[in-house]
Amino acid sequence: MKIIVAIDGYSSSGKSTMARRLAHEIGYLYVDSGAMYRAVTLYALRHGFAAAGRVDAEGLISDLPAIEISFALDEAGNQHTLLNGEDVEKEIRGMEVSEMVSPVAAIPEVRRRLVSLQQSYGSDKGIVMDGRDIGTTVFPGAEMKVFVEASPEVRARRRLLELEEKGMPADYDEVYANICERDRIDTTRAESPLRKADDALVLDNDNLTREQQMAWLLERFHEIAG
Ligand code: DC
Repeated sequence: MKIIVAIDGYSSSGKSTMARRLAHEIGYLYVDSGAMYRAVTLYALRHGFAAAGRVDAEGLISDLPAIEISFALDEAGNQHTLLNGEDVEKEIRGMEVSEMVSPVAAIPEVRRRLVSLQQSYGSDKGIVMDGRDIGTTVFPGAEMKVFVEASPEVRARRRLLELEEKGMPADYDEVYANICERDRIDTTRAESPLRKADDALVLDNDNLTREQQMAWLLERFHEIAG
């Protein structure tokens, strides 16, 4: 039986890497819902709807029908996010997008549009999706829900490393401040804030290696999916 796996958690908690690897191991489709909010944010930045920490929500909402987000796999099997057909995978990971994504993701119309797209991806089950509201709003009936926790210091160090690996070095204090600010906006917004679903399994990964996390996830998956 194919199931839906919903993985939620704070920024840079390592959930995307985990979710991607899990999907690969079990032969499921993987969808990075954060990439979708990041792509809309990039569109907003490029079209002058977001600047200096402020978003022109009305302008962006009126342009929503013109924003198309999709995914493509490269030869190595890595997923790339496409914005109106253009590969924006690298650009959506930069600090400029990171700094504007939480206010964009707090706009109810943006959320509604992306949530319905995300739900359509899961219509045949056999999907692993990670984000902030997957177990609570997108797939409240998901058979397996995981909520990933890690301290902001550990997450900032991970994010710094990730940016360095991508050739986009950043400053620790700036990355740490961005993570704390995103936590604040993501958990306090009115529309589907980040919170653990009542029936989610908690994975505290501060002191776990990637291998240990994968072993834990696979064990839970086989228990649930049979
Ligand atoms: O997972 P990420 O850091 O790439 O997500 C980027 C932002 O998108 C995050 O700060 C909050 C938002 N987001 C959201 O509101 N809901 C989701 N399901 C996924 C991401």
